[in-house]
Amino acid sequence: MTRELEGKSIVVTGAGRGIGEAIAKDLAKAGALVTIGDVDGATAAAAAKRIGDDGGKAIGVAANVVDRAQVAKLLDAAQAAFGPLHGIVNNAGIAQILPFLEITEDDWRRTMEVNSLGVMICMQEAAKRLIAQGKGGRIVNMASIAGKQGYEPLAHYCASKFSVVGFTQAGAKAFGQHKITVNAICPGVVGTEMWRTIAQQFFDKGLAETPTSAFDAFAAGAVLGRSSVPEDLAGICRYFMSEAGGFTTGQSVNVDGGMVYD
Ligand SMILES: NC(=O)c1ccc[n+]([C@@H]2O[C@H](COP(=O)([O-])OP(=O)(O)OC[C@H]3O[C@@H](n4cnc5c(N)ncnc54)[C@H](O)[C@@H]3O)[C@@H](O)[C@H]2O)c1
Repeated sequence: MTRELEGKSIVVTGAGRGIGEAIAKDLAKAGALVTIGDVDGATAAAAAKRIGDDGGKAIGVAANVVDRAQVAKLLDAAQAAFGPLHGIVNNAGIAQILPFLEITEDDWRRTMEVNSLGVMICMQEAAKRLIAQGKGGRIVNMASIAGKQGYEPLAHYCASKFSVVGFTQAGAKAFGQHKITVNAICPGVVGTEMWRTIAQQFFDKGLAETPTSAFDAFAAGAVLGRSSVPEDLAGICRYFMSEAGGFTTGQSVNVDGGMVYD
């Protein structure tokens, strides 16, 4: 891999494991100086250590994306450790399976808070700093194919991810004048702890025959013939962060093995 992001300081939220960690590792391999934020500080530190052990540069910081003060501290820590900010990957998110008629206000609030409000706060706090630096920057949001298409037992999750696509388009228009690009990644069915929990919830709700069959059934929709792994999302993120990706903004790109077309 070329070191196309040598010395660039990039923050990745929810990167203690899963897709966020795979993205953080890949960015570090491309030379980026990575700050891993996660609501679970121990996993953030452990992920940063794994990157360090692999020859990359990373720090781990405990930060809940729904708490503006914690997000500010996360970005301050990145600037203190690695200098001016190049970009942020707003990856932190949660999911829950519930039949449409069973979703409560609390379910909706919890999901929207992390997946939508958390993204808005991180976009705002990162953009403020990038604007102050005056040299442009990159914002990448983690949406989903559930931000492009509704799935019945994930209605409140879908609503939260459609909102990420909205924030991505609005953010591109708001920050373009400052040479800040804003794009989103829409993964399909990725084998992470999140999907292990989703598949278990399908089973618990009587919506799947085994604790893993929902994953297999959804993943079968990928025309490329395999389920997705976290590393599948790393290349597009590196592109959005790179010089080559510098004229792309406001886009929410499906990286799903060919499940959803728009
Ligand atoms: N796994 C999939 O199939 C899939 C598909 C589409 C989109 N996504 C999205 O990709 C992102 C990552 O998903 P994943 O599968 O790696 O999930 P995961 O559950 O494996 O990892 C999510 C990480 O985010 C952290 N996190 C949760 N809430 C947080 C908060 N409030 N503040 C900071 N960190 C928080 C968790 O501690 C965890 O380390 C999410 O936004 C998810 O919605 C995942």
